[in-house]
Amino acid sequence: MRDIIIVGNWKMNKNNAETKAFFEEVDGVAKTDKGLYGVGVPFTDLRTALDNAENLIVAAENCHFEDSGAFTGEVSVPMLEELGVKYCIIGHSERRQMFGDTDETVNKKAKKLLDAGITPILCIGETEAEYDAGKTKDVITAQLNGSLKDIPAEAYENIVIAYEPIWAIGTGKSASVEIAEDCCKLVRDVVRDMVGDEAADKVRIQYGGSVKPGNIVEYMAQEDIDGALIGGASLKPDSFIEIIEKTK
Ligand code: 13P
Repeated sequence: MRDIIIVGNWKMNKNNAETKAFFEEVDGVAKTDKGLYGVGVPFTDLRTALDNAENLIVAAENCHFEDSGAFTGEVSVPMLEELGVKYCIIGHSERRQMFGDTDETVNKKAKKLLDAGITPILCIGETEAEYDAGKTKDVITAQLNGSLKDIPAEAYENIVIAYEPIWAIGTGKSASVEIAEDCCKLVRDVVRDMVGDEAADKVRIQYGGSVKPGNIVEYMAQEDIDGALIGGASLKPDSFIEIIEKTK
């Protein structure tokens, strides 16, 4: 059985004081032996988050695939490792759309993270136009083949895949439970084709896109949905606490 993993993605929100206040309010609620709850935070908040996390897991929101060098503004995996970071979001659609992340660079990041013992939370998902054109399966398959290229089957128990249809991100227009489950199952089937049954059964798959306290329970009841990646509803302690309490 796969453990649940529910992670907030703060994106470019919250300073250190706000991070500390969030952890003081939420961390104790996340105490459970059943699954994992946590938040992805801006680089500048990682130290504060890690220092205040007893129960919540802390994720970075990006990394570079080189160890060091002339990459102004970037943060390397060894830098995250030194802080004690154990999870890192990669390939978020906002990064793919605005900052040039591609399946190829995301693949390099995934390998680097796995080598460092950091769990990648790999984001994939189609645009509204692709969804309307019936291309979801092709898009997801291409993204998984590219982003997870040459990663051995044994590594998949340490990989989280977040299926986030772009049309559902920050729009309030969440995918129906049926669409979310169908697509998460599709992700698992693609992984099965790529690396076999054991890896497909072990990889944890999240749904992301307008998840909130009012819909988290039905998503989590689906067979192939092991967790959620949550933007807006992870920013307010109250709503994230409600999500934790409804699922733990
Ligand atoms: P929202 O939950 O705000 O739709 O954001 C989803 C997301 O992008 C999480 O990575």
